[in-house]
Amino acid sequence: MSAPVSTSVRDTGSDLRDTDGRPAPAVVLDALDTARAGVLAYQSEMEALLQSTQAELQSALGQLQSTQGQLESTQGQLRSTQEQLESTQGQLRSTQGRLRETQQALEGARGELAQAQADSARWQGDCQQQEREKRELAMALARQTDRNRQLHAELLDVYQDLNNENLPELILRLCAKLTGSESGMFVDLSNEHTLAAMRIDDKKPEVRDALYGFTRQALQQEKPLVRNDGDNLPDGLQLVNLAALPVLLKGEPRGVILVANKREGPYTEDDTDLLLSIGRHAGIAMENTRLHAALAEAYLSTIGVLADAIEAKDAYTRGHCESVSDIAVQVARALGWEGEELRQIRYAALLHDVGKIGIPDGILLKPSRLLPEEFQVIQRHSLIGSDLVNRVPALRPIAPLILHHHERYDGLGYPHGLSGDQIPIGARIIGVVDALNAMTTPRPYRDSWSMHEAIDELRRCSGTQFDPMIVERITGVLDLQEEAYAEELDGEEAVLTAS
Ligand SMILES: [Fe+2]
Repeated sequence: MSAPVSTSVRDTGSDLRDTDGRPAPAVVLDALDTARAGVLAYQSEMEALLQSTQAELQSALGQLQSTQGQLESTQGQLRSTQEQLESTQGQLRSTQGRLRETQQALEGARGELAQAQADSARWQGDCQQQEREKRELAMALARQTDRNRQLHAELLDVYQDLNNENLPELILRLCAKLTGSESGMFVDLSNEHTLAAMRIDDKKPEVRDALYGFTRQALQQEKPLVRNDGDNLPDGLQLVNLAALPVLLKGEPRGVILVANKREGPYTEDDTDLLLSIGRHAGIAMENTRLHAALAEAYLSTIGVLADAIEAKDAYTRGHCESVSDIAVQVARALGWEGEELRQIRYAALLHDVGKIGIPDGILLKPSRLLPEEFQVIQRHSLIGSDLVNRVPALRPIAPLILHHHERYDGLGYPHGLSGDQIPIGARIIGVVDALNAMTTPRPYRDSWSMHEAIDELRRCSGTQFDPMIVERITGVLDLQEEAYAEELDGEEAVLTAS
């Protein structure tokens, strides 16, 4: 900027003139100088102002530039922030997306949890139900176990009370015992026959007719018949209730079991189930018993034929086998034997000399004393007899008794020279009874001994030829027989005296 001009118009050399060419007056010049000074001053002021303004402008520009820099910096920050914001927004959106997914997953999980909770509650309910059922089953099992134990004890009682030979009675008593009944009957309707009766008088026609009516009805319907209303039962029966069930074998009716007067309450389904179960087994048991009886009859017939054959051959043994059998059975009973053991000793005693069939008549029937070699032949009869019965399966168990019935307690007998307990006890019994019977029976070469003489002889040979225990038992049995005989004689004498 230039400095203000201090020269006047005149100094400038200007030659001012008017239109007429005349020089400008001094006044005008002065005025012009004044104006000029004013303009110069103004110009100076303006220049100063301009400079000031320029400085301000520059300052402002600097500030503006600074501001602009700041602004740019701020813009940069802003952009950065915006980018961060956008990044954050992106992250936020991503997070929101994940959050939504998580929320959905959470909702899914919540649903599954609810389902699982419901399942768990249901399972818990099922568990509780199963637990209840388990407890009930355990209680039922315990009750059933108690019942079975009781039934077992009752069955044992029944078996101990009864001889198995009477199977219908056994079955009837079993049914009565297990159902708590006081009365009953077992009927074979094929021949209108009462096989067993318990506290029922079936001899009375009205009772028999009424009860047989119920049994026929049970047989026709082939299932248990129950009458728990005593008022509807015929008068005269004196029954408060009854149950009848058919006994079937292979689907065929074999009979009817009727139980009556249950002590506690009416007959229930449990009772009829139990009766049906027994009925099924009873049919089989009855058939077995029938077959067994038929077989036993066939064996008995065989034994009878063999016994007859011995007696037919040797007149002196006639009645001997029967007698030995009777006393041997009495001794066995005195020893406490029963059932099959008793049957075996009876058959063995009947057949103990069956081997004599194989001995030549010349020796067997020789009226005089036997020579030693003849006695050796006779001795073979125990071996022959044993072989003979061994061929009959049902008689096989008695073969040892026949084989050893001539053994001696001291071991000096035959055929094997056994002694003491080596000799089967049945054979020892038969040996003693056989000797007793032989002594009391007349022979061609001697008279018979009296019973007292024979017993004395048994006692004399007790411990050598005979088992002392058997001798003691047999004398006890004979004493009892003698007492009974004496009482019989006294009775007959009293009758004779009175008449
Ligand atoms: Fe003999």
